[in-house]
Parts: sequence; structure tokens; C-alpha cells
Amino acid sequence: DMGGHDTFMHKEISEQPDAVDRVLRGRIDDRFSTVHLGGLNLDPREARTIRRIKILGCGTSYHAGLIGAGLIESMARIPADAEPASEFRYRNPVVDPDTLYVAVSQSGETYDVLAAVQELKRKGARVLGVVNVVGSAIAREADGGVYVHAGPEVCVVSTKCFTNTVTAFALLALHLGRIRDLSVTDGKRIIEGLRRLPAQIEEILKGEDEIKRLAEVYAGAQSMMFIGRVRGYPVALEASLKLKEISYIHAEAYPASELKHGPLALIEPALPTVAIVPDDDLLEKNRAALEEIKARSGRILAVAHQPQEKADHTILVPKNEDELDPILMGIPLQLFAYHTALAMGRDIDKPRNLAKSVTVE
Ligand code: F6R
Repeated sequence: DMGGHDTFMHKEISEQPDAVDRVLRGRIDDRFSTVHLGGLNLDPREARTIRRIKILGCGTSYHAGLIGAGLIESMARIPADAEPASEFRYRNPVVDPDTLYVAVSQSGETYDVLAAVQELKRKGARVLGVVNVVGSAIAREADGGVYVHAGPEVCVVSTKCFTNTVTAFALLALHLGRIRDLSVTDGKRIIEGLRRLPAQIEEILKGEDEIKRLAEVYAGAQSMMFIGRVRGYPVALEASLKLKEISYIHAEAYPASELKHGPLALIEPALPTVAIVPDDDLLEKNRAALEEIKARSGRILAVAHQPQEKADHTILVPKNEDELDPILMGIPLQLFAYHTALAMGRDIDKPRNLAKSVTVE
């Protein structure tokens, strides 16, 4: 049942304010400015001994893991990174007893992720799951974890589950941070930011008509570039994946700082750039990248907290705490991919060659 929407993708994008509300519900502890994660199965003493966190997932879940790693590093000050689960599995990784492994999966059935979890468990590692489907194979195999509570996702491409997974990582980061060195004040600041998310997502969704208009402007492109820096880079990766999956437009994502090391050679009027430009300590650096693109006559669509003078168009997003901005900045680009694909007459819920859950190698 599409509940009055033309596609499941549109329905699922629209459900995000409620979905985010669900991942937060019952978990916030205002007294200690932290969150309770009932299924984590990690006592505070153990949490203090973690030296590294390695996050494993595929596709969109891998991108959510990249944002998750950034959230954990900034809030809990634990070195963290994310890697595609299949790459990890095939490089005979060094499994370190002081590393906490986190497997991310919407379906909980993705074979590459499940196989990585089983290999880690066989070697005695502790593995947590950040999973949407309750009771799925990865959820059962993990030592504990955080359910994402996005609700059923039917469209082959992931939207609301991505947003909820990133929010679940913010909860995990806050929890670990408050056991380690994150102050009460910062904990409180993050909690207030988390509580603002559903209404801010609602506000972004109200801008759909304008995003649709912009999607129709850019729908003729053969190829598009997506750029972002640090927190914005995984947002760029995910937005480019979404666009290529449902519109079949070729898209690349690069860290903004890498432009001059190669991809700047591609920039010309026929190759538009989507730039993630949050109002944070990297704003001036990001503006400089826009200038470099403009100097090569590249067209720019910015996703930003304030209008960008060098951009041809800016989609404005409400500001949250710096750490939580990536959760919001991806949402207008889901709508952008959606309306681009719609303008091109694509089969949005069932893109060619793709399956919802990849249970084979
Ligand atoms: C992209 C998409 C895929 C999945 C990937 C992992 O929109 O849906 O990239 O994210 O196949 O699936 P899960 O999260 O079920 O492990």
C-alpha cells in the first residue's frame, strides 16, 4: 500500500520525520545527557577499553557507516572508519581484540556483511549490528546492537533507512562519548539537536516543489559530479549513488579537496556539480572549491545553510549541530534523485539490474 503516493520511494522519503522520531523514542536520558540502547550488550567498563571501531556494510549502508565513523570520532574520540564488507572479508584483515566491529545492514541479510560477521566471530571479535529488520540473520549473529526502527522499506533503493541508520549511529556515538570524554554540556547540545531533526526534515520536505523544478533543470546532464568535505563527503557519495541507481545518469563523488588532484579536468558547462556546503568550520574551504569550479564554467547546485553566491542554484537546509548536519543534507538530494528519475521516466521502485536484498556473493 503506497498510502496515496505514486511510488514506494516517495512514500518512504515522506515518512522520514516519523521514522527518525521512532529511532529516538524511549532512548534519550535527559538526567545524564545520554541515551539508553537496550540491545547493545556492552557494559561501560568494556566500552572504555575499545581502542578502535571498524564499521562494515555495503552500498548505502556503507555510506551510513562512513558518516557513523565520523560521528563516533567526533563525539567519542575513538578512532573509527568504515569499509565495504566484501573488501574487508577478502583482504584477510588483521582482527584486533581491542577493536569493536559494527556491521550495518537494512535487511540484515546481505551475504557479504553476514559472511564478514561470521568470519569475525570465528576469530573471537566482538561484533555489534546496526540493523533495520528485527530478527534478521545479521541481527541474530551479532553480539548486540542498535535497531534502526525505520519500518519496512519496499523501494529497492534505500532512503528512510539510510537516514535512520545515521541517526542510530549518532545515538551510539553519544552513548560511547558520554561513557568516555564527551561533556554533559555537549551531550545536552547533541540531544537538543536530535530532537530538532523530525521538524527540520518536515521543513526540507516542504521544499519539494522547488527541488522538483531544479531536478528538471539538471535532468538532461550526461554525468554529474558530487563534492563534499569531511562530514559532507559521505553525503556526496550517497547522493551520487542514489542518482545513478534510479536515473542511470553517471555520477561521481569526490572529496572537494581532491578536485585539483585530477577531477577538475572534467569540469565544463556540460558537467554540473552538486556541492555539499554546510555552515561549519570548513565553509571558506568549500567556497574556494566552488570558485574553482565556476572559473572553469561549471554549473553548480549547492546544498547549503545559506545562499551560495558562486552557485547557480542553492537548496537551503535548516542548520542543526555541526555533527548532525549530514543527516539533514542528504534528504533534499533523495528528492533531487527522485525527481530527476521521474522526469526521465524511470522505473523508480525497481531500477534495472538491482535487487532489494543481495543474499548472494
Ligand atoms: C542503495 C541500496 C543498496 C543497499 C546495499 C546493502 O540504495 O539499497 O546499496 O544499501 O545492497 O543492503 P543492506 O543495507 O540491506 O545490507
